[in-house]
Amino acid sequence: MSAFRELEVDLDALTANVERMRAHVGTPHVMAVVKANAYGHGAVASARAALAGGADWLGVADLAEALQLRDAGIDAPVLAWLHDPDEDFRLAADAGVDVGISSLAQLEVAADAARTVAPLAVHIKVETGLSRNGVAEKEWDAVFTRAHELEEEGVIRVRGIFSHLSNASDDDDRAAIAVFERGLARAAAAGVEPELRHIAASAAAIALPESRYDLVRLGLSIYGLSPYGAESGRSLGLRPVMTVRGRVAAVRRVPAGKGVSYDYAYRTERETTLALVPLGYAEGIPRSASNVAPVAIAGRPFTISGRVAMDQFVVDVGDLEVAVGDEVVLFGDPATGVPSAYDWADACGTISWEIVTRLDGRVRRTFRGGR
Ligand SMILES: Cc1ncc(COP(=O)(O)O)c(C=O)c1O
Repeated sequence: MSAFRELEVDLDALTANVERMRAHVGTPHVMAVVKANAYGHGAVASARAALAGGADWLGVADLAEALQLRDAGIDAPVLAWLHDPDEDFRLAADAGVDVGISSLAQLEVAADAARTVAPLAVHIKVETGLSRNGVAEKEWDAVFTRAHELEEEGVIRVRGIFSHLSNASDDDDRAAIAVFERGLARAAAAGVEPELRHIAASAAAIALPESRYDLVRLGLSIYGLSPYGAESGRSLGLRPVMTVRGRVAAVRRVPAGKGVSYDYAYRTERETTLALVPLGYAEGIPRSASNVAPVAIAGRPFTISGRVAMDQFVVDVGDLEVAVGDEVVLFGDPATGVPSAYDWADACGTISWEIVTRLDGRVRRTFRGGR
């Protein structure tokens, strides 16, 4: 029986997705991106499932996320790339976590930490278009020259040079790759020749072979979703990993014209049955799902009726016989006849990354499979 509010993670699907994507990209290395609690799927269990599928790197944003993996006993290579200005890189050196470097100042902090603890492996991030972090082109020579000196000193090892793509268009991504090539050449001229060059996340890894280099950083796709939508996901053989369910908490029969939930943003057209579902925006259900997002009850499709509240929403199920305790599936694997995270993203005017990542709160996370 499913839980009151349940987020089920199919670890075998995650492992299989990594295997699929590895076969598709054919790169020597694959990084499973498990930041943000593995996009809401549970960082530690997801990391293990991804490693079982042949990922040989793990990627996170913050160092704290990397240390959580280490604390759980995961000793695979990990890269963390987005740092607090006061981040203590001694923790990274101590835990053997690679750090992304986006400025000369960060490189010096990393070197100081390495001198006091242990040599630190870094991946220098170069700015190629996104205008986020990453070393600006005018600072490349200074950073690469200093990195080479620190390599000679034996405190820093430049294991990687990387960047990130905008996905604005293939042409924009190719232009960014050309900038990346320039960065690699300038690094080589300064004596820096890393073993790992990486720029592709799921979208480019799937569709832009020249972006793959030595390693691809895969997030969305290992969770069974393609950046290009449902058809692409199916043709790649990806299986959505997350299923979100709740159990009907109350049922009432109401007449025509009855207002439903806050603001009466929905009114019944005729006598009908309303089912109360105990998930709300505290669980990460977008409020923009009000009146538009799909659910499945007893294998039949319905739409949320009225406003999503903090703890709950209502579904007008017509004359369907529904009882307290019945299962309601919000989204999962569409191959099983339920709505998908893509459907929710379309309905809510957002992207599938956001739909899965925001699901949290009081939802009980359960795991299926796993080796
Ligand atoms: C630097 C970096 N690399 C890779 C990824 C993975 O992206 P995706 O989920 O599109 O595969 C992310 C996620 O946003 C990222 O920030």
